[in-house]
Amino acid sequence: MFISSSYLLALLPLLAVVKAQACPTIPDLSSYNNTVLPDPFTFLNGQKVATFADWECRKKEMSILLQQDELGIIPPRPESMNVSFSGTTLTITATHAGKSITFAPTIKYPTTGTAPFPALIGMGGISIPSPAGVAIITFNNEQMAQQDTLASRGLGLFFNLYGADASAGAMSAWAWAVTLIMDALEQTPAARINTARVGVSGCSRNGKGALVAGAFEPRLVLTIPQESGSGGTDSWRISDFILSTGVLTQTASEIVQENVWLGSSFDQFANTSVDRLPFDHHSLGALVAPRGLFVIDNVGIDWLGPFPSFGAMVSARAAWTAMGVTDAMGISQAASHDHCAFPSTQQPQLNAFINKFLFDQATDTDIVETAGNYTFEVPNAQWAPWSVPTLV
Ligand SMILES: *[C@@H]1O[C@H](CO)[C@@H](O)[C@H](O)[C@H]1NC(C)=O
Ligand SMILES: *[C@@H]1O[C@H](CO)[C@@H](O)[C@H](O)[C@H]1NC(C)=O
Ligand SMILES: *[C@@H]1O[C@H](CO)[C@@H](O)[C@H](O)[C@H]1NC(C)=O
Ligand SMILES: *[C@@H]1O[C@H](CO)[C@@H](O)[C@H](O)[C@H]1NC(C)=O
Repeated sequence: MFISSSYLLALLPLLAVVKAQACPTIPDLSSYNNTVLPDPFTFLNGQKVATFADWECRKKEMSILLQQDELGIIPPRPESMNVSFSGTTLTITATHAGKSITFAPTIKYPTTGTAPFPALIGMGGISIPSPAGVAIITFNNEQMAQQDTLASRGLGLFFNLYGADASAGAMSAWAWAVTLIMDALEQTPAARINTARVGVSGCSRNGKGALVAGAFEPRLVLTIPQESGSGGTDSWRISDFILSTGVLTQTASEIVQENVWLGSSFDQFANTSVDRLPFDHHSLGALVAPRGLFVIDNVGIDWLGPFPSFGAMVSARAAWTAMGVTDAMGISQAASHDHCAFPSTQQPQLNAFINKFLFDQATDTDIVETAGNYTFEVPNAQWAPWSVPTLV
């Protein structure tokens, strides 16, 4: 069909409107101070989130601020990447500004099922039982960015590539690498992974990292942070409050003196007040929506902040509610057990999430359960005094 250029010219203003709804500008936040979990459904300029398009903008806003004020910047893809595959090892070489690094995730293939296999990327490995028919891709996150002490700042392959003074905390570096792993799997059919069915998991410190990777890599269809605590599924604000009631809980001010999971930009908030953060970790969790998120916790270890996790994740779940897909987000807090020892009581719930998101089966994943003696609802006056829209 012939379309005259004048016809196209006449259409231009209309196309511009249809093409891109401009996202609200982030206002000056230097005097931001909010004692409750910031409303996920209100932009920082006060505008309400009403549509799916608004939500895309709000996600962008939260993602920018989480990187800027807490996690450090996750760089875009490197200039080039070479991938090779041999046996069970995927070798990835990334090149940027004249420097190259090489890392090599390994794949453990399932003994049942058929290729191409669904897979879980294990942040330093997985601590949940290996699901049948699922490949486990073990990513050595500590080689990418160290996480021993504060002296680990700037150490690891990522920093060899981007410089020791890159703003990224360890978790941002890991999330960057998970994106490269996904790219490498897509480019490598010989690895026999179904890249439309890949999840991520990890426990404890690596559970924190699994949540960050899931939040920032949209191709991951399932994110399973296990006993991730502060820096993972916990709210910074609620953790501070619970510590103030005498329950020994990991908080922002502790975490920045313990390790380098977060960028140095977080210090200014951790040292003064987390109320100055224009987000909390319900915002991080909400970035995963509408993809699958299954939060596994242990109420028996105070340090992990099981209530700060419950509060943040029930609040995050509002994002899935707003999209009408509540059952893609589950929370299961089991009774006291050893750290990272997966209790058999959670096995049916885990199976339901694996089967739905990695095998496309219809399972019941509408799970919000806690063995803890607490309740948390949205809205609630103390922590979440905002309502949940139905996005259109
Ligand atoms: C934030 O606001 C609270 C309550 O309004 C107030 O008590 C607190 O001092 C303020 N904090 C900062 C850092 O301004
Ligand atoms: C990437 O692969 C190309 C083609 O095989 C090769 O010429 C180049 O040297 C490789 N680059 C790196 C950094 O390995
Ligand atoms: C935060 O506090 C720590 C420990 O007191 C100190 O080393 C660091 O310089 C402070 N950073 C900022 C940005 O205030
Ligand atoms: C649960 O908390 C309430 C209120 O603090 C308390 O009265 C009750 O004894 C607790 N129950 C258990 C089983 O700990």
